[in-house]
Amino acid sequence: MSLLWIPILILLFSLAYASASGAPWVPTFKRDIERIRRLLDLKDGEKFVELGCGDGRVVLALSSPLLQKERDRVRSKIIAVGVELSIIQWIAAQIRRIITRSWNTRFVLGNAFAYDLRDADAVYLFLLPETYEKIRPKLEAELKPGARLVSFVWPIPDWNPTKVDEMPGAAKLYLYVR
Ligand SMILES: C[S@@+](CC[C@H](N)C(=O)[O-])C[C@H]1O[C@@H](n2cnc3c(N)ncnc32)[C@H](O)[C@@H]1O
Repeated sequence: MSLLWIPILILLFSLAYASASGAPWVPTFKRDIERIRRLLDLKDGEKFVELGCGDGRVVLALSSPLLQKERDRVRSKIIAVGVELSIIQWIAAQIRRIITRSWNTRFVLGNAFAYDLRDADAVYLFLLPETYEKIRPKLEAELKPGARLVSFVWPIPDWNPTKVDEMPGAAKLYLYVR
């Protein structure tokens, strides 16, 4: 077997491992990113974290100075972190970060369950419902009072949403304020 197969197998293994660990890669639609932006209402200097950030599209849309609309540029000093377990998606996010020169963002190759959320002001999650159940104790232990969290499609079990954003033909978004 050629040595070329080794990196390919590593990439495929990490893709499968991430899918089994939290959710397979399914990107958030552009129109839903706008809804997330409105719900989280990020302010200059705040820290935004996305657990399971895929190719980084949400992190960058919410924080990249280059991708902000003119009206939002004043709020582009957000510190944004995407955490991703799959190497393929993480590389895609790093490439997007470089192309968009988004130096206020960071993409961490690692497990969402291991990332410390204590200094996060806002969090976005698009994982599977069973993963929301598994990650709930961590969220409860680490999120500071006033931190906002948006979950895509499914609610966080046993939490009361501050707002449920509904749109015909689109998935529900749940906003929580701790
Ligand atoms: C449903 S996709 C959402 C992607 C991205 N958040 C978006 O909205 O476009 C879930 C992502 O979480 C990643 N993932 C799954 N389990 C994870 C874990 N334990 N830690 C970090 N990332 C994880 C997957 O590799 C995948 O890219």
